[in-house]
Amino acid sequence: MTRFHIATTIHQGKGSLSHLADIGAQRVLVVTDSFMATTPTMDAVRRHLGRAEITVYDGVTPDPTVTEVSAGVEAYLVSDPDTVIALGGGSPLDAAKAICKVAAEHGDAPKNGLVAIPSTSGSGSEVTTFAVVTSHNPTRKMVLVSDDMAPAMAILDPEVTRTLPKSMTADTGMDAMTHALESYVCTERNDFSDAFAEKASQLIFGNIETACREPDNLEARERMHNASAMAAMAFDNSGLGIVHSISHALGARFGKPHGRLNAVLLPTVMEFNAGPVTYGPHGISEVADRYAHIAHLIGLEASTRRNLALALCAEIRRIRTAIGIPDTLTGLGIDKAELKAAIPDLVAGALEDTCTPPNPVAPTADDLAGIIAKVS
Ligand SMILES: NC(=O)c1ccc[n+]([C@@H]2O[C@H](COP(=O)([O-])OP(=O)(O)OC[C@H]3O[C@@H](n4cnc5c(N)ncnc54)[C@H](O)[C@@H]3O)[C@@H](O)[C@H]2O)c1
Ligand SMILES: [Fe+2]
Repeated sequence: MTRFHIATTIHQGKGSLSHLADIGAQRVLVVTDSFMATTPTMDAVRRHLGRAEITVYDGVTPDPTVTEVSAGVEAYLVSDPDTVIALGGGSPLDAAKAICKVAAEHGDAPKNGLVAIPSTSGSGSEVTTFAVVTSHNPTRKMVLVSDDMAPAMAILDPEVTRTLPKSMTADTGMDAMTHALESYVCTERNDFSDAFAEKASQLIFGNIETACREPDNLEARERMHNASAMAAMAFDNSGLGIVHSISHALGARFGKPHGRLNAVLLPTVMEFNAGPVTYGPHGISEVADRYAHIAHLIGLEASTRRNLALALCAEIRRIRTAIGIPDTLTGLGIDKAELKAAIPDLVAGALEDTCTPPNPVAPTADDLAGIIAKVS
């Protein structure tokens, strides 16, 4: 038995930011980062909120920390908002979710809830019940999960992503691709999550290169923005896998962009999940067959299901290169010796990550160390 749940009302399309005017907000806390706070989008948010009293907390940095969430809670207590608006990529969105969760735990949830305005097409945090917050001592990315953390409303306006540089469009798009593909093979997958993962895959494979190459192509941007939310609805109602577990451990340790780490890991983890024995000439595993189905849906052709599954991994490697993402961790600037020394810690972090149990193959510590070594 499975449950499929979407708690967020979605407004999408060019101009959808104007729906902010319909909320009737009187006192608003905007949670964002120092870059987004200075963009024309922030000006547009102010315009659409009319006479509402607005407090801006712009102290969120990529991969938000417990300290940043605490500072946001202070801003919340001082401003006493009826509406919280999260503006930015996954980091401000996650920070805002954690801030609202703390407020709710104290019986002080904002009356109109949380409105998420994603400015990247990647995390999908605007529709999920997850928030990722980094702790220190030890340095770990903690995945917080709670039904009431899903934003009440998400506004998917592609205009908001127009300023996203090519490298970030690439990184975040690969995050969305990873969400769709990890959801599609995880142990908790179901017909409903599959539907969203399949559609998201088609949109991402069909548009990621254009979105990177043509930053002003709003149609490609809109497709990527929608796909990111769809992939998130899929994984929020199924699960992820060890691309994310390893990526969380690497991100906490080396501070590289989440989506770029996923991109380096994705095809190698897919080959691991497809299985060393059954992924051979005598038949393919169920996981490999599902990769073959995605390959078929995105228009790849091959003479056998096995070759189709292989073609999907090859296509991901091709796209990764085409959009300028290196294929190794050292290529991302991580020192090889430091990486080697960190492997036991990284493996320990990945093993206890909440994304590991739904991975279709339960990995051993050696498996995880082997995957990290392969992509070093
Ligand atoms: N909650 C979830 O369900 C979920 C899922 C996946 C990832 N995450 C988390 O999301 C975070 C990553 O989020 P992200 O990749 O969206 O990026 P981010 O929020 O960390 O932002 C990365 C950088 O991009 C900049 N940026 C954002 N939007 C921009 C725009 N439109 N134009 C120009 N610059 C812009 C930001 O200022 C920042 O410098 C990680 O912490 C990850 O763990 C959460
Ligand atoms: Fe992710």
